[in-house]
Amino acid sequence: MSQPETTLWELEPHTEAKHIILRNYLRAWFPIMGQYNSRILFLDGYSGPGQYDNGEDGSPIIAIKEAMQYLDSCDKRISNKPEIAEIVMIFIEENTERAIHLQERIDSMEIHKKINVQVVNSNFEDTANDILQELEKSKAQLAPAFLFVDPFGYNLSFELIQKLMDNPKCEVFINFMYEFINRFIRRIGQEAVMTKLFGNEDWKQLDLDCQPEERRELIHGLYQQQLIDNTAKYVRSFEMKGKRNSTKYFLFYGTNHKKGLLKMKDAMWSVDTGGTYTFSDATNPLQGVLFGNEPNYEYLKDLLLLEFKGKTATIEEIEDYVLCSTPFRTTHIKLPILKPMEQNQELRILTDRKRRWTYPAGTIIEIF
Ligand SMILES: C[S@@+](CC[C@H](N)C(=O)[O-])C[C@H]1O[C@@H](n2cnc3c(N)ncnc32)[C@H](O)[C@@H]1O
Repeated sequence: MSQPETTLWELEPHTEAKHIILRNYLRAWFPIMGQYNSRILFLDGYSGPGQYDNGEDGSPIIAIKEAMQYLDSCDKRISNKPEIAEIVMIFIEENTERAIHLQERIDSMEIHKKINVQVVNSNFEDTANDILQELEKSKAQLAPAFLFVDPFGYNLSFELIQKLMDNPKCEVFINFMYEFINRFIRRIGQEAVMTKLFGNEDWKQLDLDCQPEERRELIHGLYQQQLIDNTAKYVRSFEMKGKRNSTKYFLFYGTNHKKGLLKMKDAMWSVDTGGTYTFSDATNPLQGVLFGNEPNYEYLKDLLLLEFKGKTATIEEIEDYVLCSTPFRTTHIKLPILKPMEQNQELRILTDRKRRWTYPAGTIIEIF
């Protein structure tokens, strides 16, 4: 789809999938962050008008609804624990009609008193830089934040993402518009924008005269490496393919916290593609793992054997490996993999346990 010019536009199936992921992730993120912080921030850098042609919610409204659901559940709970004081939600939208539309939608909602919503009719770069400068002046840090960066195109500053992510407890979710980037990466006149996007000139060294898959691996790999080197300890990426099996975009998620990674994987695996598009983990482009299908347990077993064959490991070490280094969830390990392996005598349990075929905390496993 080319970039829409109207205030609202049609919701495409893969955008809907992106929204399911965002919604499911925030449903976990607000309670986790709210438990430990008195103030948290949701920053939507390219917010859009908050609504699609047929009335569907856009990302700002999805986020507000999730924040409200969390605060309502806090209100109902009787607890001595300190409560979250404020959820700041900043929505940046460059297009004035879209910003007005968003503001009107928000005004029509009954917003919880602990939510501080700001719609900023400006561009992401200037607004985020202003926020960072203010913080620097007052020697303060950004509140723990979820940054949603969802542009139409690729005029996006890596340096800015890096500066925002320098603040502890910041997570980022970026829509890397591969279809356009791939089309324009060699186009004369795009050099400065590409350097800005990738954060350096390494993109110029990519040998892109190759097959589309290899090209995709190179471009995706460079951006992923930049994020790993400069922004977050854990980076995963997810590929969204359109009808003709061509890559539309990659969603990159970066966090410094394993719990975030765990929750994002849960959110990703919850997307039911319904066959209209393909959605896979692309962190290791040599072997993408499709979501929405039965997990490919054979592949997970291969990965586990590659890592642990001939070794002894605790269940925690195995779970940690699956969480941090594979596309799979930790819930994919015990029943689908370890139990059949144990039944086939491909592994041995070295610790005591109450019930057969269970792998409680502290279990030590020898994998043959
Ligand atoms: C892909 S849409 C956002 C969709 C929205 N995040 C959602 O999921 O519902 C991108 C939006 O960013 C706006 N935009 C484009 N350039 C921008 C910039 N530099 N800063 C802020 N907003 C921008 C566009 O007008 C458009 O509404």
